[in-house]
Amino acid sequence: MNDPQIIVALDFPDTAPALALVDQLDPLTCRLKVGKELFIRGGPQFVESVQAQGFQIFLDLKFHDIPNTVAAACRAAADLDVWMINVHALGGLQMMEAAAAAVASHPNRPLCIGVTVLTSLDTSDLRDIGLTGNPAENVEQLAALAEQAGLDGVVCSASEATHLRRSHNADFKLVTPGIRPAGMDVNDQKRIMTPSQAVAAGASYLVVGRPITRADDPLQVLDAINAELTEQ
Ligand code: C5P
Repeated sequence: MNDPQIIVALDFPDTAPALALVDQLDPLTCRLKVGKELFIRGGPQFVESVQAQGFQIFLDLKFHDIPNTVAAACRAAADLDVWMINVHALGGLQMMEAAAAAVASHPNRPLCIGVTVLTSLDTSDLRDIGLTGNPAENVEQLAALAEQAGLDGVVCSASEATHLRRSHNADFKLVTPGIRPAGMDVNDQKRIMTPSQAVAAGASYLVVGRPITRADDPLQVLDAINAELTEQ
């Protein structure tokens, strides 16, 4: 099956501009990420409408609750026939096991990945919430726990991917944001990699937002990224 590595982040305040962008993209060359804001605005109906155009969806709702509640939310998300969902690894081993079990028995099983440490948190923020060690150490530990729980992978920065790829086999998906094609605006991202650098570091899928969503010609940027990856 065709397996595009680029996931376009549909970070729009409402469905109209999101649909206008989707109309310019090609489901053979990308997947789409729908996050909290757009899902709250557009709901399952928005997801279904872009799926009807052939796109596979990463439903980025980052569930974090007691195991029973997260399992139920994962089942409900899987019922939307989305390609990928995610949960917070900080919900703990039992919560992640419940999420993995919930999707495992689903006829249209989505991938379920863990969010390790939010990139907005530094060492001092972690100390404030009672976690010792730096973000990288916590990412390592939470990624190992996610794999132990039976999750399919984690979201991580491309710089973390290098290390995680050494301790996890090739099937463990590393989904990396913070991607910027060479020469493009960095926006508010602090640690970035180009698409080819991220894949070389071990990334399985790349989340790309503004370089595509704010481009004059989104399809041309997407094609250029895919060409860069093919040439690798
Ligand atoms: O526009 P840009 O390419 O920076 O968008 C990146 C996307 O990845 C956004 O949806 C952002 O919320 C998400 N993300 C991120 N960094 C993380 C986790 C998610 O940039 N650590």
